[in-house]
Amino acid sequence: MRNKIVAGNWKMNTNFKESKTLVKQLRRAVKKMPLDDDTRVLIAPPFVNLPSAVKRTRKSSIEVAAQNMHQAINGAFTGEVSAGMLKSIGVKTVILGHSERRTIFEETDALLAEKVDAAIANGLEIIFCFGELLEDRKSGNHFSVVESQLKSGLFHLESIAWNQIVLAYEPVWAIGTGETASPEQAQEMHAFIRKLLQDTYTTVVADNTSILYGGSVKPANAKEIFSKKDVDGGLIGGAALNAEDFKAIIAAI
Ligand code: PGA
Repeated sequence: MRNKIVAGNWKMNTNFKESKTLVKQLRRAVKKMPLDDDTRVLIAPPFVNLPSAVKRTRKSSIEVAAQNMHQAINGAFTGEVSAGMLKSIGVKTVILGHSERRTIFEETDALLAEKVDAAIANGLEIIFCFGELLEDRKSGNHFSVVESQLKSGLFHLESIAWNQIVLAYEPVWAIGTGETASPEQAQEMHAFIRKLLQDTYTTVVADNTSILYGGSVKPANAKEIFSKKDVDGGLIGGAALNAEDFKAIIAAI
């Protein structure tokens, strides 16, 4: 069966010392929490803080993810980090396709498909993000936009590779805006995605794939969103930078 997951995307926040402090606070918080066997907690600090986070969570149930990676094995790509490099420091998960990567850094569906292949080939788990813009939602195109992002980024994969995929539906209009999709809107889209997995792959793939919701999840709204049948957890931005808030969101799952 699929896992319940709360993942914190720290984005370009926390210097070395701040990251160490936040990891320490979260480690303490999670230690005191009775997490079910099927529940996972991940944090994604900036690249430079990954080795320290991996080291400091070794005896904890917190897992560490990267926020991005390059698609090549290695080579002349100044400023980039490869899947193999992440693996070599003990990182097992990478976030790909975040809307900030898609919009600010102009990452295309085709590029993301290459990154997906590189991550899979290196045995990394992927938290694959996708979601519609406000204009897509307003014009009623949100289902077709999401379908197309999933098709071009992931549907070339064999069923077996889906063991390494977690989906994160993040409507762009809800990211960092304080505006959340309603629990009903999230459920409606998650059910659509699960049906798509069933039609494209199998019921087993559809049932076993965790689908997270992301976009202004806060302690105040987490429980209601997570209570929906097809919402298996959340990808948290702003609220993941505050240990108390993140703890409350984990408690909500
Ligand atoms: P937010 O970010 O929780 O700050 O809206 C979510 C995300 O970007 O993954």
